[in-house]
Amino acid sequence: MKIITAETAAAASKEAFNIIADRMQHHQLHVLGLATGSTPCGLYRLLCASRLDFRQVTSVNLDEYVGLQPTDPQSYHYFMQVHLFRAKPFKESFFPDGTNLDAAAVAKEYDQVLAAHPVDLQVLGIGQNGHIGFNEPGTPFTSRTHRVVLTPSTIAANARFFARPDEVPRAAYTMGIASIMAAKQVLLMAFGAQKAPAIRQAVKGPVTPAVPASVLQRHPNVTLILDRAAASQL
Ligand code: GLP
Repeated sequence: MKIITAETAAAASKEAFNIIADRMQHHQLHVLGLATGSTPCGLYRLLCASRLDFRQVTSVNLDEYVGLQPTDPQSYHYFMQVHLFRAKPFKESFFPDGTNLDAAAVAKEYDQVLAAHPVDLQVLGIGQNGHIGFNEPGTPFTSRTHRVVLTPSTIAANARFFARPDEVPRAAYTMGIASIMAAKQVLLMAFGAQKAPAIRQAVKGPVTPAVPASVLQRHPNVTLILDRAAASQL
């Protein structure tokens, strides 16, 4: 694992931006894997303000809540519109279909999307319990797209984006761990002291499904982009 530690989240976002810009300038980015959450927002602001043109690039998102329409302001679809796609349209953008309650059909369809669009670079965040995408602790490393019931800690962490905690959806569709590991390159970003224990376990702990992000130790091309606080336990 390559680890870049910047002084602040803003400086770390610039490091992530520079890596993506370099891949774009070398015409090496055809499929970009995207993440939601607060962590990539600084990166997305830099992409929006840049001269990079994504109209020949396909995007695939990690996950989506079950039961929300793409027009729902809490859906990850809507999040991406607001934070990136309005300013930077892509050739095409894919999400697991949160409106379809047939989990097997959604999984099959999204696995086909991923097989047809192999990810060149995947942007990743990390949950405080080490989850990646919505792959909670205990998820098998062999998993592909699947439906998850969110853990109480993830619901609590994501409640800040909703008016009331009981509005947070209880389930989501997510790329699996094997789907994430199939990306040619992974950029995992983590900011703040609350992420420091998960980063320590992911980097220095055993590779175990108990800490989903620890699987990245087995990936040949991972860069962790941290601020000082998130790196404080390394
Ligand atoms: C959610 C998302 C993850 C994200 C995580 C951390 O659970 N599904 O993809 O990494 O939140 O979010 P944040 O960046 O806001 O800390």
